[in-house]
Amino acid sequence: GKVAVLMGGTSAERPVSLNSGSAVLKALLEIGVDAFGIDVGENAAEQLSQAEFDRAFIALHGRGGEDGTMQGLLELLNKPYTGSGVMASALGMDKWRTKLVWDACNVATPKAFVLEKNSDWNSIMQALGGLAMVKPAREGSSIGMRKVHSSEGLADSYAFASQHDDLVIAEQYVEGKEFTVAILGDKALPAIQLITTHDFYDFDAKYKANDTQYLLPSGLPDYAEAELQKMSLKAFKLVDCTGWGRVDAMQDEDGNFWLLEVNTSPGMTDHSLVPMAAKAGGLSFPALVVNILQQTL
Ligand code: DAL
Ligand code: MG
Repeated sequence: GKVAVLMGGTSAERPVSLNSGSAVLKALLEIGVDAFGIDVGENAAEQLSQAEFDRAFIALHGRGGEDGTMQGLLELLNKPYTGSGVMASALGMDKWRTKLVWDACNVATPKAFVLEKNSDWNSIMQALGGLAMVKPAREGSSIGMRKVHSSEGLADSYAFASQHDDLVIAEQYVEGKEFTVAILGDKALPAIQLITTHDFYDFDAKYKANDTQYLLPSGLPDYAEAELQKMSLKAFKLVDCTGWGRVDAMQDEDGNFWLLEVNTSPGMTDHSLVPMAAKAGGLSFPALVVNILQQTL
């Protein structure tokens, strides 16, 4: 049947999604799948109810595409779609509530606090050990995020993050190494270690810098790689994610892993990590796209 590749959208990650969607559409057309792209705008419900398609490949990122709302619309239209369902998408979009679930089930995730206008910046900073990441809870691609070293920085970064979401968290910054684990079906792909020259793996380090290093193989000894994969898969399932996704993690200097978040509609651009991990696992980009799509059947 006909595949609609949903891209663009109205979130701050729109430019990233246009790249993901174009790459997915190109791959589908190259291998002869009957597919077309839909640039999803403000009137998504009207667009999708009028379009003729049998299945949707969701290449949208952020709110309105990755947060359960689009998934709900597709459910009501009776159109199969890629990736997680309504609940997992909504939960995965919310970094705070994802952490609450992981915490409750003994999956290590760094300590965090919800910030408010009148938060006690000093005591929060102290509780976080003096180094924190301030994050809009429901954003992606590091948009609105800052790494902070002081209580003044915390207050400023709260104001900055608040421009992107009314739910803002400060999370203990884990010093050490950064990893990501792509999940495809019910398997974890090889982990990737990310090394950036930036203060952290921010938007530019993700999509623009040509000096970001991606270690694949990850550099972890086999037992640690296996532990990270197992932990990521467990975390993915706890959020009830299905199909595909990506779990981001840190490893502290004692070798312990801490999970940061799950992405239910990860980037598929030429700088993106899931395609990189898939390739290392023996799947070309088109084969990856088909694999993700076939899981909707
Ligand atoms: N939010 C971006 C697209 C990612 O996780 O890859
Ligand atoms: Mg994310």
